[in-house]
Amino acid sequence: MPTAVDIVEEILTLKRERHAVILAHHYQEPEIQDLGDAVGDSLELSRKAREMDGDVIAFCGVWFMAETAKVLSPRKIVVVPDREAGCSLVDACTAENVRAYRRLHPDDAIVSYINTSVEVKAESDILCTSRNAVEVVNSIPADRAVLFLPDRNLGAWVKRQTGRENLKIWQGTCVVHATFTARRLSAALAEMPHAKVAAHPECPAEVLEKSDFVGSTSAIIKWCAKADAQDIIVVTESGVAHSLKRVAPGKRFHFIANEQCNCSECPYMKRNTLEKLRDSLLTLSPRVELPDEIIERARVPLERMLAITGR
Ligand code: 13P
Ligand code: SF4
Repeated sequence: MPTAVDIVEEILTLKRERHAVILAHHYQEPEIQDLGDAVGDSLELSRKAREMDGDVIAFCGVWFMAETAKVLSPRKIVVVPDREAGCSLVDACTAENVRAYRRLHPDDAIVSYINTSVEVKAESDILCTSRNAVEVVNSIPADRAVLFLPDRNLGAWVKRQTGRENLKIWQGTCVVHATFTARRLSAALAEMPHAKVAAHPECPAEVLEKSDFVGSTSAIIKWCAKADAQDIIVVTESGVAHSLKRVAPGKRFHFIANEQCNCSECPYMKRNTLEKLRDSLLTLSPRVELPDEIIERARVPLERMLAITGR
């Protein structure tokens, strides 16, 4: 039976033969992150997908992120180790939902989180990630009503940050972040009253209110590296521990468990394994294949976002 070292060797050989790059989200297993030509949050990986050379992108993240890479690099082959690496937010809103909303509210601006299907993106006016959501919403004239979709916690956070009354919010949630509770965070703080707290904006408001910092995955990592604290409670997916140990080896990071799995792992992200990554490079599947028309339509709101925050 091949060992992990053998599989890594096979991946590196296939990567050379295929002229492939490996992009890895911070929520991937450490051994996958270690193989990444780039490791990042969803915004950084979108940019990398556009910039990097190579014929093949092996996208170690979830399917919507790989679709985004395909939209930005349509001539490249984009594969994901596991086709079932989905996202509960993607499932929360369909393109038909968005078209129906548009028919009822033709003047509203539709701002879609990047955690949506490519078909939903194609129906949207502009996209955002957790990193740039406030900036993107602020780019829309104040008197124009906005529908923010699909994450209700991120939407509510953006509404508080922008003070925008005319922001309507879809009611989707992330299975990982929406099930962190203030009760468990308070229990962790009772044990470590000196600890600081960093949280992802997909968490409920009651958790964000108790946090010293709220930001995207990479923003959390950067903040933790600089924060004046030895103990930090991190309220997000525990895959970030790998980068946190690298950027701040002397600090202690504590992850609280959510009410969903009594853990802090994304069940979709964790479907990808070294074996499946090897197989995807070998067979060039599961492969993202999109109609040209969808690529062209989805690229418009994506490029609008990158023009605002793509520097
Ligand atoms: P980031 O934009 O912070 O990478 O978040 C992606 C995600 O899926 C959060 O759950
Ligand atoms: Fe989707 Fe949540 Fe997993 Fe992120 S952590 S990919 S939002 S289910």
